[in-house]
Amino acid sequence: MSGGQKKRRVGIVGYGHLGQYLVKQLRDNGVQHGLELAFVWNRDARKLEGTVPLELRLAKLTNVLDWHADIIVEVAHPCIAQEHGESFLKAADFMVGSPTALADVGTEQKLREAARRAGHTLYIPSGALWGGQDIQRLDRGGMLQALTVTMAKHPDSFRLGGHLGELAKGARQKRVVLYKGPVRQLCPLAPNNVNTMAAACMAAPSLGFDGVQGCLIADPVLSNHHVVETEVTGLGGFSVHTRRKNPAASGAVTGEATFAAFWSSLLVCQGHGGQVFLC
Ligand SMILES: NC(=O)c1ccc[n+]([C@@H]2O[C@H](COP(=O)([O-])OP(=O)(O)OC[C@H]3O[C@@H](n4cnc5c(N)ncnc54)[C@H](O)[C@@H]3O)[C@@H](O)[C@H]2O)c1
Repeated sequence: MSGGQKKRRVGIVGYGHLGQYLVKQLRDNGVQHGLELAFVWNRDARKLEGTVPLELRLAKLTNVLDWHADIIVEVAHPCIAQEHGESFLKAADFMVGSPTALADVGTEQKLREAARRAGHTLYIPSGALWGGQDIQRLDRGGMLQALTVTMAKHPDSFRLGGHLGELAKGARQKRVVLYKGPVRQLCPLAPNNVNTMAAACMAAPSLGFDGVQGCLIADPVLSNHHVVETEVTGLGGFSVHTRRKNPAASGAVTGEATFAAFWSSLLVCQGHGGQVFLC
């Protein structure tokens, strides 16, 4: 990119593992990709001290419009898209890093409509989903009949409460299926673990969160990787089965490859108009 060209300004919402990784990438490598850091927000602002310069710290999400970001990236919690997604889309393109937020019918409709109205893009990062663009093409062509996403991890890699948390505890010795059914009901039960399934639902709007099937498995043999499988069925006997092995440190919720995948997703976000776009 030539020095005179305007850089795309990126706002980062959330400063946990992914947020810190993206901020570092933007500061180290952003310029060569035509990107610059516009702001960083975190619920607990003290976490920004010592690493994020004062002039880049956004104090209140309601002031986001004043920061002239071209793209806002949420890497905090699904509640951010639910509470602020609409105002983000009025101001900029929006990459929703926690797409399980969209399993809430009202939120998905509200954000689709806000993107269309503002002419800004609602970006969905593919995460650990393999073949998302192909699924999207099949869906757009009216050829997609069924889609199942199966995710298997070590029981320590789940952050689960309630009934699913209890089931995961029982998976220390043997493989346990924690959930099998529509992704819609699973997202609020396991919001941090099934973002890849939510991305699949957004890639396949003809099936959506009610039609795409999710299967979540705790497996004690998976001590250093996660497994994501997709089974796609289309018209006329068409079928695809993918199996992705995602290296992950013991107990990590997010696979190592997911960090690099997030950065690649951000590089795709060049503005695609008022639509949902898998990146
Ligand atoms: N799309 C994907 O494939 C994918 C992959 C990994 C993680 N994620 C999602 O991205 C988000 C960030 O992941 P991470 O690994 O960086 O998590 P993390 O726990 O390391 O960081 C989360 C950050 O958000 C803040 N936060 C937590 N709850 C909040 C709330 N209710 N309101 C506002 N801020 C809150 C925390 O203070 C922390 O700074 C999570 O929602 C996670 O589920 C998505």
